Amino acid sequence: MLNFNYSVPTKILFGKHKIDLLAENIKEYGSKVLLVYGGGSIKRNGIYDTIIDIFAENNISSWELGGVKPNPRIASVKEGIKICKKQEIDLILAVGGGSTIDCAKVIGAGFYHSGDPWEIVTDSRKIEDSLPIATVLTLAATGSEMNAGAVITNLETQEKLGTGHPSMAPKFSILDPTYTFTVPEKQTAAGTADIMSHIFEVYFSKTKGAYVQNRMAESLLKTAINYGTKALAEPENYEARANLMWTASLAINGLLSSGKETEWSVHAMEHELSAFYDITHGIGLAILTPYWMEYALNDNTLDKFVEYGVNVWGIDADKDKYKIAQTAIEKTREYFSSLGIPTKLSEVGIEAEKLEKMAEQATRRGELGNFKPLSKEDVLNIYQKAL
Ligand code: NZQ
Ligand code: ZN
Repeated sequence: MLNFNYSVPTKILFGKHKIDLLAENIKEYGSKVLLVYGGGSIKRNGIYDTIIDIFAENNISSWELGGVKPNPRIASVKEGIKICKKQEIDLILAVGGGSTIDCAKVIGAGFYHSGDPWEIVTDSRKIEDSLPIATVLTLAATGSEMNAGAVITNLETQEKLGTGHPSMAPKFSILDPTYTFTVPEKQTAAGTADIMSHIFEVYFSKTKGAYVQNRMAESLLKTAINYGTKALAEPENYEARANLMWTASLAINGLLSSGKETEWSVHAMEHELSAFYDITHGIGLAILTPYWMEYALNDNTLDKFVEYGVNVWGIDADKDKYKIAQTAIEKTREYFSSLGIPTKLSEVGIEAEKLEKMAEQATRRGELGNFKPLSKEDVLNIYQKAL
């Protein structure tokens, strides 16, 4: 296990009716709020009205930035910064999924940046501070509610990039699993795949001796696999939604990655798919993952895949090692398929002609990953196999 520093500053308010604690938690930071939300799901399921009533009852003044799109755009960030500056906002409240939360985070950091906000996306070292961020989560997937990262898209340059700063970690996040009852099938499936991918990115590592992180990762994977299926079959199953929601937050809050060298190559490959084709993040990950696994499997990585197959999928440990690894990869593919996710990039509109350009962009900062380092040619090979 490697050395690490670990701190999660976000207060989690988890469970039914935790929205009752919204006003008192906002008031620790002031009474002028920018409410950030997406395309309208919170208006359809009543969460918006609940929050507006709470604001009215507690003398909280609010301004709104609605219409934040999946794969949130830098244009929305700029709009939000303008409102924060003009109205002297005290806290930004994101109500929605990862896209809304990420947009809010970069608005918060952009408030303190004198140049173009795209500069703090391309170079996180330029981030100095952020306005306080808080969230009401409505979709279990990205873990953005409990970490300091954000991913923003620039349509003009066809770039989708991650950034982050400790000051962007939400001050508090309200996690009421009933708020995810209305998440549609496709987003439930994509969210489950995203959660699993966050775990894979840190589980498949060359670091030795991180036993506790690895066993926690396997438990979270088994939880996501079990309850992802259940939530699809029964969208209003509280147990399923609650377990998925907490797994999403724990998967990418540093708990599993601290003390390990990590990978993040499937995410880097997927971000190019979203940048060029605006596809759903979790769907892109689910398509690429089994192909990445097949590509990464070799004599050096075999034992890790065996560990995965035996501990997560319950494959007989006495079988031939390669057989175990290949079965585990096949089970991963079958699982994503069982959630209704396509298995080929061409099924989500991706064309052969842009693969080379995407592979080049994915590796512009150098080779991807450590467990199985990927050059531009490797990335292109994986895209081609997945096409
Ligand atoms: O926009 P609305 O109308 O709210 O609808 C959304 C959107 O269409 C809908 N939705 C959300 N909650 C709902 C709901 N519909 C009905 N009922 C509800 N309760 O779901 C759709 C997708 O929402 P989005 O926020 O885009 O999904 P997700 O949470 O998967 O976020 C994806 C974004 O997060 C980034 C991704 O790259 C992508 O841009 N990521 C952020 C990370 C981070 N900050 O740590 C890490 C991740 O790896 C990821 O890259
Ligand atoms: Zn992700």
